[in-house]
Amino acid sequence: MFKTIIEPFRIKVVEQIKMTTPEQRKVMLAEAGYNIFSLRSDDVIIDLLTDSGTGAMSANQWGGVMRGDESYAGSPSYFHFRDSVNDITGFEHIIPTHQGRAAERILFTVMCKEGDVVPNNSHFDTTRANVEFRGAIALDLPSPELADMDSDYPFKGNMDVARLRDAFNEYGADRIPLVMMTVTNNSGGGQPVSMANMRAVSDLCHEYNTPLYLDACRITENAYLIKQREPGFADKTVRAIVREMCDLAEGCTMSAKKDAIVNMGGFLATRDAALAQEHKVLLILTEGFPTYGGLSGRDLEALAIGMQEAVDEDYLHYRIASTHYVGQHLRDAGVPLLWPTGGHAIYLDAKRFASHLEPQQLPGVSVANAMYELGGVRACEIGTLMFGSRDPETGVEFAAPRELVRLAIPRRTYTQSHMDYVIEVVVKALEQRDSLPAYRIVEQAPFLRHFSAKLEPVT
Ligand SMILES: Cc1ncc(COP(=O)(O)O)c(C=O)c1O
Repeated sequence: MFKTIIEPFRIKVVEQIKMTTPEQRKVMLAEAGYNIFSLRSDDVIIDLLTDSGTGAMSANQWGGVMRGDESYAGSPSYFHFRDSVNDITGFEHIIPTHQGRAAERILFTVMCKEGDVVPNNSHFDTTRANVEFRGAIALDLPSPELADMDSDYPFKGNMDVARLRDAFNEYGADRIPLVMMTVTNNSGGGQPVSMANMRAVSDLCHEYNTPLYLDACRITENAYLIKQREPGFADKTVRAIVREMCDLAEGCTMSAKKDAIVNMGGFLATRDAALAQEHKVLLILTEGFPTYGGLSGRDLEALAIGMQEAVDEDYLHYRIASTHYVGQHLRDAGVPLLWPTGGHAIYLDAKRFASHLEPQQLPGVSVANAMYELGGVRACEIGTLMFGSRDPETGVEFAAPRELVRLAIPRRTYTQSHMDYVIEVVVKALEQRDSLPAYRIVEQAPFLRHFSAKLEPVT
């Protein structure tokens, strides 16, 4: 009846934002070596660096924090957590971990050996690192539709099923201990995976007797996008769609810092009792006793409640609509971005945004830094600074395949007027696109250089 989709919550506690001027931010950016990771978060007005662990917990979750039981073994908070995750996913054996990557490390340590191959629609960077740390190959098989940034194709997060079959033929099922699907596909632009694609992948896995695991960080956002976009799902509940997705898999890892809206936490789940025993052995080594993993009882309570809130359809309606709202307004203003919008973030195409800059001149850094300087909005470059490399002998810079700037939207944290402000800031940067400077790297670490590199503008 009304076109305005409101935030389906009231604000009980507020956190002051320190307002700064462009002149102050110019100085702070220079002091940070022109690297937004080196800024103090107090000096950021709207922080879109990540949606991980940055959500606002509900009054119910904070109530759970007070009820958290800190017994070392057999705490009621563990059983609340286990039953809640089981209720949503249907997986039987659930072990808590301090965050997603700890679940990944345990999963791949138990399931992979050197020389194995793990196909995924797109590995997230910690997932890739954990596969490779085991000496296995992390094989990305994104769907070909992802290459077209402007098309309306609704499920650009899909896996390329034909290439998955090729991988089974090329490497043999013996070298593929598991297949993984990341929902939604974060490294693939936060795009959703369709149920039809999941089913096709699951069928192929059955054919080769290979387990399918989900990287389920954003499974409820994915499920909501299936409900909206995939024929036959409009009348199903998100809860039922999430369960249908899980029914196609053997287990999952989850960073609960995303859809379960906690500031810290994760888990590993499986249907396989024998594997779960092996997982627990590793869990005890580095995370903790199996009824708390790397978490305190209060974290487990918040996670248990967050899992249930994550399938609330009024919340998901607002969540997906507000991401779409930002994307649609930016698109209407001529800002180049990955379309259609997914669940958790907007991905600007810096190659077209700052088209006068070569990848080696770091257009994504230039756009992100302009957004900070103009409006105090922090976003993250996902381009040549993050994924490119420098030949140590020749000094030649290799470019990344894409130059993106990710505006990740924390859950329940910012209001529509914050998002309107972000839109204005990005559009202002677009108006100044021709004068956005090139950047060069003056200092960099040998690995994961984007976190600590020092940069300077080239005049
Ligand atoms: C798809 C995906 N998988 C795994 C992870 C790792 O989770 P964590 O940061 O909790 O270790 C992330 C975190 O951003 C992610 O987006």
